[in-house]
Amino acid sequence: MTYPGVFITFEGPEGSGKTTHLRALAAFLRAQGYPVLTTHEPGGTPIGQRIRQILLDPSLGVLTPRAEVLLFLADRAQHVAQRIVPALEAGQVVLCDRYADSTLAYQGYGHRQWPLDTLRDLIHFATQGLWPDRTFLLDVPPEVGLTRQGEAPDRIEQRTLDFHRRVREGYRALAQAEPARWVLLDATQPWDAVQEQLRAHTLALLRTRFPQPPASARRG
Ligand code: TYD
Repeated sequence: MTYPGVFITFEGPEGSGKTTHLRALAAFLRAQGYPVLTTHEPGGTPIGQRIRQILLDPSLGVLTPRAEVLLFLADRAQHVAQRIVPALEAGQVVLCDRYADSTLAYQGYGHRQWPLDTLRDLIHFATQGLWPDRTFLLDVPPEVGLTRQGEAPDRIEQRTLDFHRRVREGYRALAQAEPARWVLLDATQPWDAVQEQLRAHTLALLRTRFPQPPASARRG
């Protein structure tokens, strides 16, 4: 299924700076006249917010890995149906902080309990087959990323360094396997350099999808 809008996701290990880059890119694109929706997982809908609390609160005790997968997917199913697809149908540029590749990297490569294809099937069920047009991987070694975290690590940040190393290697393998969708950016570069590359890649993509420049860009 193709939509009039464009779906772009941001992926990366903890502390890669995804969120601040996504916000800055959104502001830049809006200033160019593009209609932008920013959103995130887990928790991009009211129901997803509740699911997010369960997923990330370490005080709730052990969350079994299967239940963890299914909760991330429940969050995503709601998010796709309630926010992402309507925005794409309306022709918006959707910038999403984490999506299905987070499940492959964290629950797939991180936990190493199930074949990736099992997770892909489950993701397909949850998303009805919606994959991003472009995915930015903000790549950073876990040793660097984890030191950028705040003081109260959530359930997933608390996992071992080995887990986070597998997540990072998983992301890099996913990006290598599907180079037409992924753009790998070295997030240890200065912030401005990373943002500049994000803008250039995004504008190039949007120009292929919106042959007419947005109204305000035409005016300017
Ligand atoms: P969040 O506070 O949104 O962190 P970040 O700024 O790193 O995006 O927490 C989301 C956490 O959930 C993060 O550690 C990655 C993890 N996660 C998964 O393990 N699987 C998933 O499918 C998703 C969407 C996130």
